[in-house]
Amino acid sequence: MYSEIVPHTITAAEIAAKNPAAIILSGGPKSVHVEGAPRLDSKVYESGVPILGICYGAQLIAHQLGGEVGRGSRGEYGRAQMTRIAGSTSTLFTSELPDVQEVWMSHFDAISQVPAGFTATASTPEAPVAVLENAERKIWGVQYHPEVVHSPFGAQVIENFLHNLAGCDASWTMGSVIDEQIALIRAQVGDKRVICGLSGGVDSAVAAALVHRAIGAQLTCVYVDTGLMRKGESDQVVETFKRNMGIELIHVDSGAKFFDGLKGTTEPEAKRKIIGELFVRVFEEHTGGVTDAEFLVQGTLYPDLIESGGTDGTASVIKSHHNVGGLPADMTLKLVEPLRALFKDEVRRLGSELGLPDEIVWRQPFPGPGLGVRIIGEVTPDKVAILQEADAIVREEIRLAGLEREIWQAFAVLPDIRSVGVMGDERTYAYPIIIRAVTSDDAMTADWARLPFDLLERMSSRIISEVDGVNRVAYDITSKPPGTIEWE
Ligand code: XMP
Repeated sequence: MYSEIVPHTITAAEIAAKNPAAIILSGGPKSVHVEGAPRLDSKVYESGVPILGICYGAQLIAHQLGGEVGRGSRGEYGRAQMTRIAGSTSTLFTSELPDVQEVWMSHFDAISQVPAGFTATASTPEAPVAVLENAERKIWGVQYHPEVVHSPFGAQVIENFLHNLAGCDASWTMGSVIDEQIALIRAQVGDKRVICGLSGGVDSAVAAALVHRAIGAQLTCVYVDTGLMRKGESDQVVETFKRNMGIELIHVDSGAKFFDGLKGTTEPEAKRKIIGELFVRVFEEHTGGVTDAEFLVQGTLYPDLIESGGTDGTASVIKSHHNVGGLPADMTLKLVEPLRALFKDEVRRLGSELGLPDEIVWRQPFPGPGLGVRIIGEVTPDKVAILQEADAIVREEIRLAGLEREIWQAFAVLPDIRSVGVMGDERTYAYPIIIRAVTSDDAMTADWARLPFDLLERMSSRIISEVDGVNRVAYDITSKPPGTIEWE
């Protein structure tokens, strides 16, 4: 289905002009009770267009239509058990779904009373109204997140809303994204030269392939080796993009510059900004013979935009992503961001449609600032060397265990502390390595991966025996939320 994301400030008249088949109100970090909390033009509720509110969206429905949203509950983050309210009938949470099911929650406030005409049809321990509905007015709300893979029946609920309650059919395809983006890219860049930064990740690879399909030889790719890449990655990137995609590729080895720029900096946001800024500067300097380039392709995805504060500044800034908030204000290149409306699973599908090999499409996501955000505190070449070795072991063991596709990301983190250990009867005082492995569908939410103990054991003993300067290994068992996937 085709969908558009619009800010909450849109008016009922503007929505009517778009003639939507259905409206979904998203979640958000605010409480409906605070000043400046997003609200919806209340005429939208009278429009007769089917509405599904999710999380904050459900609370907003309750709040604006005369129900009550209570503060001071304990909140729920992560897995919760949702139970159908006895005797209720639901058009959303239909009878073929189990009466008790697992759902993914991320809320502090909770709806305590439904508006007149609405019924509550399910609850969880901390959310007395986990589902509310008024079929006559075609308004439904769910406190949990049906859109994430960790709510096992969530997709069914969304399908039910879209297909049965709102009457939408499913005729939109990835093919239409390609055609549309190719036309937009051509219109934006004309006959100008375009450069693209390859980071080693899936996003920039797919963005490059898409732009290459649109404008062919007008595109030159530049791979900035920040010195913060994974072990062996630079060789692999150069080899893969030249061999697989036949794209002109300039390889810039600029690790020294990044280490210099990062010297003495420990604050995560400052590190991200420094890396982002240097990245663009290096680009501007090292475009080789490409002096006429006017555009820069970036593999920015929709979650990057949301987490960098959204398109209209409504969402909270969680991290300023390399591709968005870290860009210098005086950058001379204009941005081409053909993936900015997509989520990671869609980018992978798009990559396959464009004919990219699995080895690229199924590569683990890797952040633009690289190992710089996985080394807590100051980033130095020595620490990068330690982390590269440990990270290579984690990824190799995941691959050997056949878990590459199940695990969204698995990597090592180097914290800025040391601990005491004993090796061969000698006291050691060295760094720990933290293993981070998560399952996810789109990186907006993630669950820590239940890796088998014997696999963790192999990773741990290999890291300690093979990586100098490490004497302890810990496993991160935090989901997102409340943690983020990366440590910085
Ligand atoms: P977090 O840590 O915010 O990460 O839960 C969500 C996903 O985004 C990746 N990530 C980045 N990707 N530039 C990127 O291109 C960045 O600055 C960046 N920071 C985080 C992260 O690896 C995860 O997949």
